[in-house]
This record gives sequence, structure tokens and C-alpha cells, in this order.
Amino acid sequence: MLVSSTMHLLSMCVLSLVLSCCQGREDPNFRIRAVNLGGWLVTEGWIKPSLFDGIVNKDFLDGTALQFKSVTTGKYLSAEQGGGSIIVANRTTASGWETFRLWRINETAFNFRVFGKQFIGVDTDGNGIGIVAISKAPGHSETFEILRNSDDKNRVRIKASNGYYLQAKTEEVVTADSQGNKGWGDDDPSVFVMKMTGRLEGEFQVTNGYGPENAPQVMREHWRTFIVEKDFKFISQNGLNAVRIPVGWWIASDPTPPPPFVGGSLQALDNAFQWAKKYGLKVIIDLHAAPGSQNGWEHSGSRDSSQEWGKTDETITQTVAVIDFLASRSKQ
Ligand SMILES: *[C@@H]1O[C@H](CO)[C@@H](O)[C@H](O)[C@H]1NC(C)=O
Ligand SMILES: *[C@@H]1O[C@H](CO)[C@@H](O)[C@H](O)[C@H]1NC(C)=O
Repeated sequence: MLVSSTMHLLSMCVLSLVLSCCQGREDPNFRIRAVNLGGWLVTEGWIKPSLFDGIVNKDFLDGTALQFKSVTTGKYLSAEQGGGSIIVANRTTASGWETFRLWRINETAFNFRVFGKQFIGVDTDGNGIGIVAISKAPGHSETFEILRNSDDKNRVRIKASNGYYLQAKTEEVVTADSQGNKGWGDDDPSVFVMKMTGRLEGEFQVTNGYGPENAPQVMREHWRTFIVEKDFKFISQNGLNAVRIPVGWWIASDPTPPPPFVGGSLQALDNAFQWAKKYGLKVIIDLHAAPGSQNGWEHSGSRDSSQEWGKTDETITQTVAVIDFLASRSKQ
């Protein structure tokens, strides 16, 4: 009850706060004419695609949605019942149960999340070769590699943690016990035709894509160069009186936000407050990405399109704390 009423209240106020940076009484007829500085402190791939260019194996980012058609059965891999059971290869068409969302461990290792949010893995309780979608928290058994045919990148093999490749032995038996050494023809049950049906390019994807070694440098360079002081000067000289700045919840724990997010965006925001003051602009802070992701879209920092915000009280109290933090920051 507490969750739903607080949620309602929060969604009504759209998670935006207008921060005035100027002293003095407000003119009741004051109207905001602002420009949105999107793609700066919250990554959205479509705004600056080149930000992703340096990621190794960048086709496979967190949240990328994949479907796999067995070349021998001619049918799609599917999590039976959508999850909580075995993996089969007997679906003639692909939709929710046949779609697997990536969690990226590094450039070569991935987890596959199914419709019911479980992760596929080798069934270590059985004979060690069965493939199931039971685990709620991915570990070693849930880690896979995707090997692409260099001549046709959509023909792939999937290597399991036991060192063997997945194969569709029959429509109803999928196991990890193939040596995967028979070429890429239609007669090898370890070959699958892969189709990408979704892709996210948000802050989670860019930071986890570059990884902890490279992400801090890449992101700080982006924050330092994408919006600069002369943009604020230009805005103020061209009939606008405010800027809107989308931010993500992780900015409140700068300089050490939870991984894969990286620190440094708060410095950029502080710079924005200074420039706004200097050029007489107001700042609208838009909490664009709430903890847990409020909508499953890339611009809300989602990892794999699932929306967790509002499902627990914690995400809501955390959101209130972030808003308090941002409001107090603007007064410094
Ligand atoms: C990627 O992660 C896997 C699984 O943890 C590990 O075995 C492998 O060495 C890692 N590869 C790289 C390039 O870091
Ligand atoms: C696929 O195989 C599973 C496991 O045997 C079975 O329960 C399911 O009904 C089959 N689905 C189709 C569409 O044949």
C-alpha cells in the first residue's frame, strides 16, 4: 500500500525539479524557454552513437535481445514455460519465450536471461550437460561464450561453462556436449542462426561495455567535451533562459557509484550550475533514470529492459534521497 501510493505521488511530479540559480524575487509571468541537454550525463546511444565505437565486441551489450534457430530442427530455442524449466528447440515462431537477453560479464563471457527472468545454465544437479533456465542469480554455470562464423556472423555456436557447445539433439533435448568441430553447415546441431531483435544503448551498456578499466576515462572525456561553457553562453545569447539537464540516480553517489557506473558526472553538473549562474540561466534537473529503472528503456539506465523501480520501497526511498541530494547540491 505504501509502495503504490508513494509511487503514484512520485510519478505525478515527473521527477523534475527546477532550480533557480539567481537571487531575487520571481516574476509571476516568468516563462521558461529551455533547451534539453540530452545525452550528456545520461547516455542515449542515438544522441551520440560514436560513444560506443571503442567497445570490443560491441554487438553484444547488456540487454541485447537474441533469438536462436537450430539449423537441424529448423526451430527456435525456447525457455519452456518462459523459464523455470528446460531449454527446448521446438518453436516454429519466436517471441517472448524464445528471446534471450544478454548480461555482459566481459567482452567474451555472457549470461542469457529468459522471459521469466531466470538465467540459462548447465544443469549441474543432473548429468552436467542438460540446459535449464532455473537460476535467479548467474554464476559460473550460467556463463557462456558466443562464437560467430567469420563468413556469416549470424551463424553461431554457444559454448557452455563445461567447455562444450550447446546442441539441439532433438526438438526437445538441448544439451551442452558438442565438440563443435564439424564446420558451419546445416547438418551440425551445434550451429544456430542468431537474430538480434533488440538493443539497448544506455549508461549501463556503455559503462559495462568498456569495463572498469576503460569506462572512467571514456566517460570523463565525454562529459568534459560534449557540453562546454560556450554552449551556455550561446544558449543565453539566443533567447533562452534555462537548460534542462537529464541525470541518472547514480550521480548522487559520485565519485563512487555502484558499478558499472563511473564517477565524475557530478563535477560536470557542478560546472553546469556555475555556467548557468554566470550566464543567467535557470537549471531544470530531470531525474531521467531512477534506481532500478522506471520504464525499462535505455534512457533510464536499464540493464536488460526489466523495470524494477517501484517494486520495492527501497527504490522509492532511494529516489527521494537522490532528489534531496540534487536540490541541496544546487544551493552550494
Ligand atoms: C571473461 O570472464 C570469464 C568468466 O568469468 C573469464 O573466464 C575470462 O577470462 C574473462 N575474459 C576476459 C577477457 O577478461
Ligand atoms: C516442446 O517440448 C516440450 C518438452 O518436451 C513440450 O512440453 C512442449 O509442449 C513442446 N512444444 C511444442 C510447441 O512442441
